[in-house]
Amino acid sequence: MNTPSKPERIIIFDTTLRDGEQSPGATLNVDEKLTIARQLARLGVDVIEAGFPFASPGDFEAVQKIAAQVGTPDGPTICGLARATKQDIETAAKALSPAAKPRIHTFIATSDIHLEYKLRKSRQEVLEIAPEMVAYAKSFVDDVEFSPEDAGRSDPEFLYQVLERAIAAGATTINIPDTVGYLTPSEFGALIKGIKDNVPNIDQAIISVHGHNDLGLAVANFLEAVKNGARQLECTINGIGERAGNAALEELVMAMHVRRQFYNPFLGRPVDSEEPLTNIDTHQIYKTSRLVSSLTGMLVQPNKAIVGANAFAHESGIHQDGVLKHKLTYEIMDAQSIGLTDNQIVLGKHSGRNAFRTRLKELGYELADQELNRAFLRFKELADKKKEVTDWDLEAIVNDEAQQVPELFRLEHVHVSCGDHARPTATVILRTPDGEELTDAAIGTGPVDAVYKAINRVVDIPNQLIEFSVQSVTAGIDAIGEVTIRLKHGDHIFSGHGANTDIIVASAQAYMNALNRLYASLQTGRSLHPQHDEVASVGG
Ligand code: KIV
Ligand code: ZN
Repeated sequence: MNTPSKPERIIIFDTTLRDGEQSPGATLNVDEKLTIARQLARLGVDVIEAGFPFASPGDFEAVQKIAAQVGTPDGPTICGLARATKQDIETAAKALSPAAKPRIHTFIATSDIHLEYKLRKSRQEVLEIAPEMVAYAKSFVDDVEFSPEDAGRSDPEFLYQVLERAIAAGATTINIPDTVGYLTPSEFGALIKGIKDNVPNIDQAIISVHGHNDLGLAVANFLEAVKNGARQLECTINGIGERAGNAALEELVMAMHVRRQFYNPFLGRPVDSEEPLTNIDTHQIYKTSRLVSSLTGMLVQPNKAIVGANAFAHESGIHQDGVLKHKLTYEIMDAQSIGLTDNQIVLGKHSGRNAFRTRLKELGYELADQELNRAFLRFKELADKKKEVTDWDLEAIVNDEAQQVPELFRLEHVHVSCGDHARPTATVILRTPDGEELTDAAIGTGPVDAVYKAINRVVDIPNQLIEFSVQSVTAGIDAIGEVTIRLKHGDHIFSGHGANTDIIVASAQAYMNALNRLYASLQTGRSLHPQHDEVASVGG
């Protein structure tokens, strides 16, 4: 009997942990990267680009751990980026070696601008290096991806030649980056079509696309690329990434989910096929977005498509009336389809440790005993203040714990006094890295300002607060407030996060969290943004 072959799907290649982490201030530590990688696996991405192993020891360690712990046989492919040099490729291969399905992604620029000013190499040299390095990568792994950086501004004829040679040398995916976000949708579609029509061995590789959002066109460009034969999309959660970011995963996936009848024929399917176009579990989208936002400190704008706070909110009376009469009047997708309403009330103040552990497990969090103890204590504190503890509250606690960098300075106590006739005054007690307990106080323009000034008097590391935001995890006056801040020290940005039902305490925790990251980086003297500092000329 002939079994029908599985219908073709769009491969989702997530680069949140590589290109996404290149967003200024989005630097993640190894544990945070692992937490995100695990969630990406639950989301169902096909490939996780876990980092750029040659860039720094921290990146190497993160890729290696993700390869070992998330790159299991039934998990996603784990990919590492490498410039087209032997050293980069060897380092990537080593970091990826624990993965069941490792992929090396090697790249070299092909545009004349990059060749002349950045690489100082001739076209002929690039024509030789690309296949040589693909073959070298192939000597370590079967799965090799090749990118001609700045393909969008490269001479197409030259691009075809480079791609043909890369495929002949063993590249199984060829990725077409619009590195500077310059192309329009029709131009990008034409570029992919040109590659399909003019690279003789193109049928031996999957065509992938990668693009930046400088003109706000990345998602539109990718969808046009799909129509013209692209089968892998490189994207990030919330669209984070270098400069204006990358194409947003959630927008691409939901566009192809909601409009599958439109896209089906381009994948050779019957128009009305209900077969999903990607392997993504759309119910995990909202949760993943929140996790990435809180760990990177990159907030999601309220009107952001799919995952913004207002994406499913109807403000005008006419819209509300219409939606009450029939959802389809103003809604093209269901909030439930991205997991937005999976907000169950599960635990309360009488719930025990076992129920807590079990629910966390169901949500996909496996905590070590010590972490579980800390999280459980926080849950109990919360349950005392708040009658109903939801899954989102639990996630806020676990995510907040995951972000705790070693507490070099520890907040022991914070007290504020303020009011409409009082000058906001804060007292803090901090424990220093040497174990000394120091107390200080300050007056500020508001309670948070007073707390931050008091903390600064103890910690004394010059910095500038450039972003401060409070969001509530659930509705209601007793909700947990999540505070996210970004501060600047020299040219570097550090994010901090705190979660508490008292937003002054959450604000103090967020500030300490960012200061501890800053302090740790000064102590180790390690690059604050390895991908930018230690490796010149990495792609965007
Ligand atoms: O934007 C870009 O060109 C990149 C490459 C490394 C793929 O990120
Ligand atoms: Zn990029």
